Amino acid sequence: MQTRIGSVGSFEEGKDPVVTTRTNPYKTLPWRALQLFGFFIALCIAFSIVTIYTIRRSGIYSAVTTAKSNFVPCDEQSNSLENWRKPPTNLLHSMSDNELLWRAALVPRIKKYPFSRLPKIAFMFLTKGPLPLAPLWERFFKGHEGLYSIYIHSMPSFKADFPRSSVFYRRQIPSQAAEWGRMSMCDAERRLLANALLDISNEWFILLSESCIPVYNFSVIYQYIMKSKYSFMGAFDDPGPFGRGRYNSNMAPEVNISKWRKGSQWFEINRKLAVNIVEDVTFYPKFQQFCRPACYVDEHYFPTMLTIQTPNLLANRSITWVDWSRGGPHPATFGRSDITEEFFKRIHEGHQCRYNDQPSSTCFLFARKFAPSAMEPLLRIAPKVLGF
Ligand SMILES: *[C@@H]1O[C@H](CO)[C@@H](O)[C@H](O)[C@H]1NC(C)=O
Ligand SMILES: *[C@@H]1O[C@H](CO)[C@@H](O)[C@H](O)[C@H]1NC(C)=O
Ligand SMILES: *[C@@H]1O[C@H](CO)[C@@H](O)[C@H](O)[C@H]1NC(C)=O
Repeated sequence: MQTRIGSVGSFEEGKDPVVTTRTNPYKTLPWRALQLFGFFIALCIAFSIVTIYTIRRSGIYSAVTTAKSNFVPCDEQSNSLENWRKPPTNLLHSMSDNELLWRAALVPRIKKYPFSRLPKIAFMFLTKGPLPLAPLWERFFKGHEGLYSIYIHSMPSFKADFPRSSVFYRRQIPSQAAEWGRMSMCDAERRLLANALLDISNEWFILLSESCIPVYNFSVIYQYIMKSKYSFMGAFDDPGPFGRGRYNSNMAPEVNISKWRKGSQWFEINRKLAVNIVEDVTFYPKFQQFCRPACYVDEHYFPTMLTIQTPNLLANRSITWVDWSRGGPHPATFGRSDITEEFFKRIHEGHQCRYNDQPSSTCFLFARKFAPSAMEPLLRIAPKVLGF
């Protein structure tokens, strides 16, 4: 509104002086003015001749192209496709969350990539700080360069000191404090997804914690995820107080109780769903306002949102094994004495699920929670039991 008024004003301001200069010179046309006018005309003619001559000789077009070609190298550098294909060289950036989410939500509308693209898995570690099981992961990733990328979100105060040779070297993203059960936890997960989306080759996105381990080798996990028709987001309708009981009717009409879902925070999703999550402005405010403890938002926001938007792309189960059998608010943590062949046989074979609509007993690719003391026996048992 203001700019409009302003431009009209300046338009009218410009009109007035023209009118006055028109009326005045007719009355008193001084000789000096006439002289000046003649001089001006002469100057114009001279300039025209010089200009025409120059155009004939070199051509104004070549002048334009010279100017253009001077700019081309700079132009090409910033506009080359290469910059869209290659992942960012430095994960640290100065974008705010809003800027980052906006940038990450840019999606090509042509499905086929005009270059060869080897789809990668983004392993996103949501941690407090150190990664005590890093040596096991290092071994897991070894030899599979080009098929994965790693992202780490930790407490902002934590300073990572991985050696240059480590797969975790400089894989930290700009992070903020995240609290379990609060929206700040979902913000951290969206931040991980958004950073990982900046690499166009990342096709699948797995959320992990510092206490997670892989229970198969890289090739098996890559194949399992690549060939799956569905994304592994845990989502179930729990009619009890810890499920539907946490629904708040203020979330309607965007969120209807019939679509209210609960699921483990540890998901695996494809690129399409990752974009859905980072671009969301519809459900976010509802969950932020109406799902607060004892509604633990990280257990409900993504499962519910995706059940509403894309139910047919969800496997509705998590691929991260966890043991709730000991009861209480936290799952069991396993240490040195728990790491046996028997233990992994239970994870590998002790379950029934569906994989691509067929019954399967390979249900879990990752497991949690493991204490630092489990590291040593895990490294020992891994070649025989985990396949790496
Ligand atoms: C929720 O959906 C059901 C049908 O699925 C509908 O009958 C009901 O009115 C909806 N509730 C709200 C609050 O929109
Ligand atoms: C997951 O659940 C949704 C409904 O919430 C359903 O439409 C979808 O078919 C389920 N996925 C599979 C693989 O069964
Ligand atoms: C990965 O594990 C599978 C099954 O345990 C095994 O057949 C395969 O040889 C392993 N691959 C590598 C590269 O070690």
